[in-house]
Amino acid sequence: MGYADGLFDLTDRVVLVTGGSRGLGRQMALAAARCGADVVIASRKLDACQAAAAEIEAETGRSALPHAVHVGRWDELDGLVEAAYGRFGKVDVLVNNAGMSPVYDKQTDVTEKMFDAVVNLNLKGPFRLSALIGERMVAAGRGSIINVSTHGSLRPHPSFIPYAASKAGLNAMTEALAQAFGPTVRVNTLMPGPFLTDIAKAWDFDVANAFGHFALQRAGEPREIVGAALFLMSDASSYTTGSIVRADGGIP
Ligand SMILES: NC(=O)c1ccc[n+]([C@@H]2O[C@H](COP(=O)([O-])OP(=O)(O)OC[C@H]3O[C@@H](n4cnc5c(N)ncnc54)[C@H](OP(=O)(O)O)[C@@H]3O)[C@@H](O)[C@H]2O)c1
Repeated sequence: MGYADGLFDLTDRVVLVTGGSRGLGRQMALAAARCGADVVIASRKLDACQAAAAEIEAETGRSALPHAVHVGRWDELDGLVEAAYGRFGKVDVLVNNAGMSPVYDKQTDVTEKMFDAVVNLNLKGPFRLSALIGERMVAAGRGSIINVSTHGSLRPHPSFIPYAASKAGLNAMTEALAQAFGPTVRVNTLMPGPFLTDIAKAWDFDVANAFGHFALQRAGEPREIVGAALFLMSDASSYTTGSIVRADGGIP
């Protein structure tokens, strides 16, 4: 095994990715399996989780457990944790990736239901999952939790206030959980800029030209999240906790 392979090796570790069926989550789950991990693919639609899990197993030879769960529903999260520990006996890496950003025209179009749904999925669910799994990680003596935030949490815009606020809360949660679960368990924020996943289908602007002011002058391809994610999952980031790692194309 080469030096870099050893640094990023995840052989026999278990990586749970919420929202692992599509987009950035699917890329991160596949990358983890390529580095030797068994994975748990969790999202609302079981058939989508099963399809992603089958593809990952076929390509990597690792085990992939599909599990249907609504991450915004507190009471469903125990079932996800039990399923993961029941199948693999441990979770080494939790990626709180599932998230949503509703589109609206003006602030009064934001309903209470919409606001609650955003906070439930982007903030409340990640807290509860981190609590349930983080304490087990501490008991096991190691672990890494990755909270997937957004550049918009640092640069909020009127068009996505509930989203930005929920993800800013997630950033704050990262720092506090790093204190709660250290020194054995690390907790970090992975902060993407714009990536061309399904989320991009709702963008009503010219994607080809919208990011010309970024240092890299473009949006990211989903596979480009993988390097930063593997860094945070693996021992390569052994002295990194409570931090924000940005993969945003150099937003000014
Ligand atoms: N793409 C971007 O430009 C961008 C930029 C900054 C930050 N991010 C963040 O990156 C993360 C992933 O984004 P993405 O672009 O990959 O999203 P995506 O392509 O829309 O995929 C979202 C994933 O989350 C799952 N999901 C959605 N609601 C869920 C729920 N209530 N419970 C469980 N799973 C749920 C979806 O599967 P089901 O439909 O089966 O539930 C899917 O697997 C999000 O947290 C997002 O805020 C993305």
